[in-house]
Amino acid sequence: MTAGFLPGGEEEYLVRGRKYKGCCDRREGRGAVPTITLERVKQDPHVDTYLSCSDACLGAIGYTEHGYRHANLVARIAQNIMLRLGYSDREAELAAIAGYLHDIGNMVSRHGHGQTGALLAWHLLTRMGMPPEEVAVVVSAIGCHDPEDVGQPVHNVAAALILADKADVHRSRVRNPDVSSFDIHDRVNYAVKHSFLWVDDKERAITLQLEIDTEISPVMDYFEIFLTRMIMCRRAASFLGCDFGLSINDVKLL
Ligand SMILES: [Fe+2]
Ligand SMILES: [Fe+2]
Repeated sequence: MTAGFLPGGEEEYLVRGRKYKGCCDRREGRGAVPTITLERVKQDPHVDTYLSCSDACLGAIGYTEHGYRHANLVARIAQNIMLRLGYSDREAELAAIAGYLHDIGNMVSRHGHGQTGALLAWHLLTRMGMPPEEVAVVVSAIGCHDPEDVGQPVHNVAAALILADKADVHRSRVRNPDVSSFDIHDRVNYAVKHSFLWVDDKERAITLQLEIDTEISPVMDYFEIFLTRMIMCRRAASFLGCDFGLSINDVKLL
């Protein structure tokens, strides 16, 4: 791996013969280690292929959208949670990278996609030249984001990823065009017209605010399939020193 300075102070670095622009970490004794940003991750053709393949695989077995829209949204929300709560820019960037990559394991299998996604991310980020201590943070966050696999936050970035992922419930995720054949997941997602995760750093409160069309799905349906996720969100918020709240149609339920 080599690096050189570009005009204007920006650096250029080479990874396996490919040229990238960005910042380099020049901590003593390390040589030039590229600082891997979310933008760099998005440029990677392997990431791009794995993400679109994951989404296609889930589409084939009837799941809601898990592609670029979900990846970008989760990345942005996870980053915002970290920044709003006063964590460093770099920790927030790692949360964004974990958010972008968290569902690529669905390319291998839906079952255990947290673990397979973690291993894929380990390979991708190591290949890009990310320092191992940062790879470890991203990989462990991805490995514990899924409720099927216990879903316990193991550090701040993992907690932010859980909250960001579970906050993405919205009608735009439903792919099935036939309303009459909706399952409960389609119905609940389709019923959500608006969702927003509020982070109040002063009150140390994180609140998921949803607007649901109860003609499409009663609020009880939401609880039937999202109870486990809400428990995960409460744990994740508590890990970040916050209370978790849920508000549906302006009624505070948690
Ligand atoms: Fe997932
Ligand atoms: Fe997800």
